[in-house]
Amino acid sequence: MTWSPSNWRSKPAKHIPEDYPDTEALSAVEAQLAGYPPLVFAGEARRLKQRLSEVAAGKAFLLQGGDCAESFKEFHPDAIRDTFRVILQMAVVLTFAAEKPVVKVGRIAGQFAKPRSSPVEMIDGQELPSYRGDIINGMDFNSESRLPDPSRLLQAYAQSASTLNLLRAFSQGGYADLNNVHRWMLGFIERSPQGEKYEALADQISKSLQFMRACGVTAESTPNLQQTEFYTSHEALLLGYEEALTRIDSTTGEWYDTSAHMLWIGHRTRQVDHAHVEFCKGVKNPIGIKCGPGLETDELLRLIDTLNPKDEAGRIVLIARFGSDNVQDGLPDLVRSVNQSGKNVVWSCDPMHGNTLKTNTGFKTRPVDRILSEVRDFIDILSSEGAYPGGVHFEMTGQDVTECIGGAQAISESDLSSRYHTHCDPRLNGEQALELAFLIAEKLQSMTEKSRLEDAQKSIA
Ligand code: PEP
Ligand code: CO
Repeated sequence: MTWSPSNWRSKPAKHIPEDYPDTEALSAVEAQLAGYPPLVFAGEARRLKQRLSEVAAGKAFLLQGGDCAESFKEFHPDAIRDTFRVILQMAVVLTFAAEKPVVKVGRIAGQFAKPRSSPVEMIDGQELPSYRGDIINGMDFNSESRLPDPSRLLQAYAQSASTLNLLRAFSQGGYADLNNVHRWMLGFIERSPQGEKYEALADQISKSLQFMRACGVTAESTPNLQQTEFYTSHEALLLGYEEALTRIDSTTGEWYDTSAHMLWIGHRTRQVDHAHVEFCKGVKNPIGIKCGPGLETDELLRLIDTLNPKDEAGRIVLIARFGSDNVQDGLPDLVRSVNQSGKNVVWSCDPMHGNTLKTNTGFKTRPVDRILSEVRDFIDILSSEGAYPGGVHFEMTGQDVTECIGGAQAISESDLSSRYHTHCDPRLNGEQALELAFLIAEKLQSMTEKSRLEDAQKSIA
């Protein structure tokens, strides 16, 4: 059977709402969207695949991050700018430590639909459908707001288009100049209560930049220093929206989902014979697969085969999200069997979704310590299995929120209520995210040193 963007409709689908009061209105909106301009160009998605193939080969590192859920209410240029800024700063730190280019992918410009652990929410004895993300229904706890509303697809498209427009301007227009990014980072170190911990690495970066300048490597002589490649991604969850933005690329004749450069399949929707895998199978964008507790090795191999039958490098990103308590038990078998199968993949670590807990006061939060511990274990496990720890995946924001506990500012349980703004899961704030980048950088640096040493020993022997 030839693949078509609507084939998913004949498969069982989880987490796609079936309670639209007016399905004709939904179809009309989808038809309207299908006539709108693509948000990204297929050639850009191909270039990202190329970049990811370099990650798969151990020659680059992937940094993916952004909101758990974007919202209509928090849509503001400053929020986009601040998230972009933090990702760039993290990328500079990681580039320096890994001594490799960092491929930057935002969870942004389309991350609006959320799978929920329960289809209903109960507050003070009243039960209503759960909030499923702004592209589907509203967060306010009343029955009208919780009804799925098709016009939200159009608003999500419009917000994505204008977010992407600003990101393109920032990444190409000079704002992303390496010297700017470094200056922001020095500001962070000055402000951070534990800034001195990061000074040594920041100093090394300052010296490298001064050296480059002295050699005449400046933004004028090297435009690359002033610009950056920045890609977008989101979970391919609301398939009606994704289908409407799926187009045939005129240069290759292949299907691309033009809603983002990269898409991923969530932990709850990765059933190999279900709708989400069916949809992702046919589009040529790079595809992420969340890998967590309960995923069997043969199931993972089948998923990889289904989504990447020709074993193309850069097509598949396996995003491990086990939780700091489960990663040592769950991850090694998966890594080993993928290794043995010889399949070409990128391994990345999402240390957020397995580390969520609820405080006594009812806030969902994530301890920074556990997040860091999962990333460190991930790096160790991949390395000892002879595979490459290729990237990290964070839920973060540039805003000064108090959603995750710990970090240099030592956000405590009782601080959570002061600036808890997330529409879904707790995010790292800008400072926590950058701190983590420094701590992961230390780990990557020691790994780089170790392999340099091993290479030197080999060449002596
Ligand atoms: C997410 O990335 O927002 C998410 C819901 O993750 P997972 O599918 O891994 O739970
Ligand atoms: Co989330």
